[in-house]
Order: sequence, then C-alpha cells, then structure tokens
Amino acid sequence: MTKIITAALPYINNVPHLGHIAGSHLPADIYNRFCKIKGEDTLFVGGSDVHGTPSLILSREIGISPEVLTDNLHKVHKKLYDYFNISYDNYSKTSSPIHKKNVQNFFTKLDDNGYIQEKTSIMKYCEYDKLYLPDRLIEGTCPNCGYENSNGDQCEKCGSLTESSSLLDSRCKLCGNKPIEKEDTHLYFSLDKVSNEISDWVKTKEEVFNNITYSEAQNWLNKDLHPRSITRNMTWGIPVPKKMYEDKVFYVWFEAPIAYISFIEEINNKNLWENKNTKIYHFLGKDNIPFHTIFWPGLLIGNGEYNTPNNVIGYNYLTYENEKFSKSKGVGIFCINFLNCDINIDSLRAYLTYILPEKRDSNFNLLDYKNFHNSELIGKIFNFFNRSLNMVWKNFDGEIKIDLSNDLEIISKVDEKCSIIMKNYEIFSFRSALSKVIELASIGNIYFDNEKPWELAKNNDLEKLKEILGVSMYICEKLIIFLNPILPTISRELWEKQLQKKEKIHYSKETSTSMDLLIKKPYPILNRIDDDQLQNYEKVLTREFSLKNLINEERKIN
Ligand code: MF3
Ligand code: ZN
Repeated sequence: MTKIITAALPYINNVPHLGHIAGSHLPADIYNRFCKIKGEDTLFVGGSDVHGTPSLILSREIGISPEVLTDNLHKVHKKLYDYFNISYDNYSKTSSPIHKKNVQNFFTKLDDNGYIQEKTSIMKYCEYDKLYLPDRLIEGTCPNCGYENSNGDQCEKCGSLTESSSLLDSRCKLCGNKPIEKEDTHLYFSLDKVSNEISDWVKTKEEVFNNITYSEAQNWLNKDLHPRSITRNMTWGIPVPKKMYEDKVFYVWFEAPIAYISFIEEINNKNLWENKNTKIYHFLGKDNIPFHTIFWPGLLIGNGEYNTPNNVIGYNYLTYENEKFSKSKGVGIFCINFLNCDINIDSLRAYLTYILPEKRDSNFNLLDYKNFHNSELIGKIFNFFNRSLNMVWKNFDGEIKIDLSNDLEIISKVDEKCSIIMKNYEIFSFRSALSKVIELASIGNIYFDNEKPWELAKNNDLEKLKEILGVSMYICEKLIIFLNPILPTISRELWEKQLQKKEKIHYSKETSTSMDLLIKKPYPILNRIDDDQLQNYEKVLTREFSLKNLINEERKIN
C-alpha cells in the first residue's frame, strides 16, 4: 500500500504567509512524517500553480515573460518550503511538460466519455484593454452576499463560487471600465452528469471527512451542480487540444488538481493513482474544499481511470493578531522574512501545530508563541529531557542497561498515552496529538518529582536510581518518536546524536522491557526566548517586501 499525500498547490504569485503553511503544507508534512514513523510507504507531492491571469499581469507589470517570472518565483516558493522543512518528495510546477501532456489526455478522455459540452455565451469584453475578461479580471457585487468587491471566480467575503457573468455591476480590474458583452464559445465540464455519483461518494465520507470538509461539501451538494466552464481566453496556460479552441487554454482550476497526478508521475508512475491499493490524502484550506470534494472527484469520476481521494483534510483560516493575512494591507507574517530571522523553525512548527485551525479559525500571536516556546516546549518537554539525560550522564557516564520489568505500572500508563497519541495522529487531530505529547512529558516530570532520583544519587542507591532513570529514558524515547512529525530536526538530533541510535525513528506498539543505552554528553536543546528577542522577531517578520525586488534578486542569483 502506498499513500499519496498532497498539499494544495499555492498560487505562484502569492508569497506564502504563515496561514498557507498552517493550512496545508505543514499538516500534510506532519502526516507524511507520521506515516513514515509507522513504516508506511508514502509519496508527498505539491507544486506551484503557475498559470492564470494574475501571473500574466504581474509579468507584464515587471516586463518579463510569464515563464521567467514563474520559474523564478517557483524557486522562491521551493526555498521557503525547504526552510520550513516540508518533506516533499516532489515540489514541482504546473508548467512542467508531463503535466501538459496529462491535462490534455485527461481532457480528451473526458471528451470521449461524453462529459464535455460546448456553450456559447455572452462574455465580458473590455474594449479598452481589447480582452475577453477572465473571472479574475472582473470585480463586482457578489450575487450571493452583496459584497461589492467580489472576484469573478470566488467571493472573498462569503466564499461562494461565482461565475463572472453572475456578478452584478461588473468592472474591469485593469482599467476600471465597465466591460461590454460579447459572444464567445467555451468548453464546459458536465458536472451535472456526475452529480449523483459525487453525492454518493460524499455520503461515503460522512465518518471520514472532518467537520469543515463535510459541511462545505454538503453545502455544495444542496445546490444544483451545473456544467462548469473549463477554458479561458488567454495565452498563459495549457492549450486546449480541440479544433476551434486552439487559441484558448484550460482554466487553472481544471488543470491544477490534475497536477497531483502529474507530480506523482514525475517521480514514480502515474499508474499508482489507478492502483486500488493506493490511498490518496489531500490537505488544503477552507476555500479549496469545494474544488476538492465536488469538482475534482467529479473530474476523476468522469475520466474513469483514477481513484478518488480517500480523504480531503480541510482547514479553517489562521489569522494574525486577529486579522486576516493580507499582503496589500501589510497584515501578517510572510515566510520570506524567515530567511532573515534566527527563529527556531522546529519550535515555530510546534507552535503552528499547537494552534492549527482544525475545528475553527485560529489566531497567531507572537507573545503567545513565546509563552508556548518557553513554558510548554522548554518548560515541560525539554526540561524532562534535560533532567533525565543529565542524571544518566552524571551517574553512569551515559551508559546504562535498563530493565523495566519492575515498573510495569508506570510503563502501562505511558503506553496508554502513546496509543492515544497514535490515534490522534491517525485521525488528523494533530493539535491534540501535540497536547498529548506534552501530557506525556508531564507524566515524566511528575514521576521524576515523586521518585526524587537526585536523593537516590546522594544516598548512592544506584540500583534504584538506574531503575528510575530507565523509566525516564523510556519516556524520552517515546517523546522523541512522537515529536518527530512536528519537530523533525530536533527530534532527529536527539535520536541520532544524543541517544546515538542507529536505526531510523520508528514506532512499534510492542514494549521491550530491557534496553541498553549509551548517550552523549547532554547539551541545551533550545534556548528560552526573551522579550528583546521577541521584539526583534516581530520587527523582522512583519517587514514589508516587494515581489518585484524578490524576483529581480532571484534572477541575479541565477
Ligand atoms: N492555487 C489554488 C489556491 O492557492 C489551489 C489549487 S489546489 C489544486 O487556492 F487542487 F488545484 F491543486
Ligand atoms: Zn479594461
């Protein structure tokens, strides 16, 4: 069995902010790493969503081709996900040649299967810009909620998917003029024809999807599913392989999810998607849920060759100091600034996990981060490591043979906590997995406080001391294992350097009651964050930046 894990493909022209990390890359990464410690086979893919109007406009503004623009921005994205230690097996981009071939074949198959229809409709055309206006270039009033600056494809305010033709009083985003209406013919995917299958499929997921995913999917199914246009009048995209449509490209939302398949093919074999033993998990933010629970399964069903996803793990939004992240308003923490900041990434990942917007929106706050770092990570978890390791080092020169057979009571308490942590990871409750890990550290700290090993050392009761430290090291080992998905660097260092373990970090349910340990001299794992540092983080992390400069710098390097 192989698990395919994906994170939503970020739009290339958005420099990712912490909300993007918390809403897809990080949880997908945690899951991938969790599967690995269970010894499962996984492939974790993602990539930049490069096509579409916004990158075309940006490239025009800067005066470079969209290829050069997106190739360079892609490098920036890749660098940032590496920095956050996102363990992609392949982070690619939708301009890849394999992807182009796949999208065209996917479309042809849909067409052959009778799911593509043509429709002539009245489109918005800007006479000033001489352009059929794609959805993204139109703004107007949302027919659903009345928001006045709604986009042509999705209303930012209420999240409903619109088609630009349904907007009330529309404007051209480039010049602000009112577009005229002009006829044009486009291709549509007959979403209506697969609506029963989609609805049956969603029903099978009632116990599988998390609340937000299931309820967003249901909201959609409660409306009628209409055919959706899949072509656009543009040059920057994947050409439509059909007569009379040669000058059109596929709509990004048609081609982007197919990229998951392409990115698997780039490193493995796309047959993996057709294999009944493969399981597929998509991680994404709230606004992407309808596409992944309705439209994408619809495309897969219409195509007929591929498996549908096993789960779609949707996340709510992360706000920054209680406001929505927004580059234009300068709200939020943009990942690019991390490259100039000495914040510990593992610790930041842990805080993001601690506040992951699983059930509802959640808020990132630097002071809260500092408190978490100092009191939970250091005060509880690493404090326990330090005190245990130090005593093993001081009293036994780091070398002890451990026999736990007299301590089965505390061991079974620990093991019970471990099963709960496993279960939480298993059901994608990463927040509570982390809370339980902290509770496990507390079990260790309480045990330590009760047994007072320092007194045993003073009284030279080495046998008993060995026993207590044995239990402590057993807990430390479990902590490292369960911290690994969240704090990959620190946990690996502890495992390999501190505990000097040769085998990979892995979890097995069977408890062995004896082990030999040879540890290295303990060193401080993390430092506390003080107020000056916090202020400095804030200054660096909220710094404004220009996308244009970023691209130019990237071009200079290459
Ligand atoms: N680019 C889209 C966004 O950032 C997400 C695309 S996800 C995929 O909202 F399914 F299309 F791949
Ligand atoms: Zn215009």
